[in-house]
Amino acid sequence: MKKLTVLSMIAAALLLTACGDSSTGAEAKAATEAKTETAAPAKCAADGKCGEGKCGGDKKSATTETKEAVSTATTEAKEAVSTAADKVKEAATEKATAAVDAVKETATSAVDKVKETATSAVESVKETATSAVDSAKAAATTATAAVASAVDTGAGKALYAKCAGCHGIDGKTKAMGKAAPVAGQSAADLETKLAGYKAGTTNAVGMGMLMKGQVASMSDEDIKAVSAYMAGL
Ligand code: HEC
Repeated sequence: MKKLTVLSMIAAALLLTACGDSSTGAEAKAATEAKTETAAPAKCAADGKCGEGKCGGDKKSATTETKEAVSTATTEAKEAVSTAADKVKEAATEKATAAVDAVKETATSAVDKVKETATSAVESVKETATSAVDSAKAAATTATAAVASAVDTGAGKALYAKCAGCHGIDGKTKAMGKAAPVAGQSAADLETKLAGYKAGTTNAVGMGMLMKGQVASMSDEDIKAVSAYMAGL
């Protein structure tokens, strides 16, 4: 409807020009009402204000110009719509891009935070575990040392109790007045001698069988422990 109105107005303007300055408001109104190509010349001819040849010719060119004007207006409108659409697209794209960027940033920072938290958690667990292991190791070392010293001294001392009657509490007594004192001898030497008595192969002063009876029931660990104790006398 708007296009039609525009077309009518353009046609009116052209008709006014073509028919001269003498055209009245009534003619302009009549021309404005000429909404089709056929209606316009009929009205113009009926008015008799201008020659048929001139009017007809002008009508033709006016129609062409009108068409061109409409075409131009349509093209311009199309372009305007296209430009507007492009702008809307650009704006939408920019907004979408900004939104995507914001989401990306949020996601990235969230991931970073999770990573940091996880890393610090793992580190604290590692530290706790390491210190716990260290404590356990230290405790184990202490316990082992305590057990070792208890075996070396306590067990050895207990085992020597029955030997002290002949070898002396200080280990310096010559057993049966003949045997060499056990004090001052190395743990390794004493261990070898006791192993020899147990096997029945050692007989230093003719009383090896007596000593075999003393150590026969002793285990290798007992012999080792009592030897270590005697070496310390
Ligand atoms: C009844 C006394 C007696 C008792 C108890 C006794 N011994 Fe002896 N021991 C001897 C005599 C005697 C000899 C010498 C044996 C020989 O002829 O080799 C000897 C030898 C030894 C020797 C070797 C010394 C050397 O350097 O030649 C050692 C070591 C020894 N005894 C350790 C012990 C231990 C350990 C016990 C206790 C489990 C013990 N004896 C209990 C009498 C005793």
